[in-house]
Amino acid sequence: MSDIVHALDQSADWIREQDPRAAGPLFGVVLGSGLGDFTNHLDDVRVFPYADVPAFPETTVVGHDGAVVVGTFEGVTVVALRGRVHLYEGADPTTLVHPVRTLARMGAGGLLVTNAAGSVNRSYQVGDLMLITDHLNLTGRNPLVGPNDDRLGPRFPDVTRAYDPGMSDAMRAEARALGITLREGVYAGMLGPSYETPAEIHMVRTIGGDAVGMSTVLEVLAARHMGLRCVGVSVISNLAAGEGDDLDHSEVKEVADAAGPRLIALVRGLLRRKDDWWQTA
Ligand code: HPA
Repeated sequence: MSDIVHALDQSADWIREQDPRAAGPLFGVVLGSGLGDFTNHLDDVRVFPYADVPAFPETTVVGHDGAVVVGTFEGVTVVALRGRVHLYEGADPTTLVHPVRTLARMGAGGLLVTNAAGSVNRSYQVGDLMLITDHLNLTGRNPLVGPNDDRLGPRFPDVTRAYDPGMSDAMRAEARALGITLREGVYAGMLGPSYETPAEIHMVRTIGGDAVGMSTVLEVLAARHMGLRCVGVSVISNLAAGEGDDLDHSEVKEVADAAGPRLIALVRGLLRRKDDWWQTA
């Protein structure tokens, strides 16, 4: 068995050496398509390209702008993963979740996962934010397949509360306080890279999905395996296949840009309310 823990420590130790803030309490963030601008709102930002971080995924998979971004937000050290690996790029699940596992290994007090997603629920509009209440893993893959490393977590982890109730409540409270519309729903994670057929969207709706995308679910499974609390937000970037215009990836960035300020406001509230959910063990 390759030593996952050793590889995680190589990454974690290197990040902590570069920036001592990362050796203290920290909050982890995974930034989805078009949401990289989030890091412009952090103070005292330091950017570490994935290519420089020992044991991180190869940049051929993750793209050249993939970076670990360390900054301070609401007095909290944030370690953000800007750029993620997707299954559709051909990455194996273990490689894909290495960055998130690194944050868990560093003792993050919580993890925010974000993504762009298509709306399956017909009451949603393009540009809406959706709090992820649960997910459907329809990728056919799981990062926990293979021998279990008990140092990371149990063989059969409970994922009843994959998305943390306390963190989710903090997001809801902030959305209410600011008058931000925050939808709630189930995220269906697909393998991709082709978008879904209308028949597949019909299936996802029938089995309880509200939004559909090509990321997030494996990261949350790996984080929960290690006991890290997660909260998830989807930016509804388009209506799902068969529900509106034909799908075109170029719209994602525009919609994400427009949603960015609302997402940042919610994260500010989440961190201000951290006494209600921050994980210390
Ligand atoms: N389907 C799958 N992934 C996506 C979509 C979609 O409609 N929109 C953004 N990511």
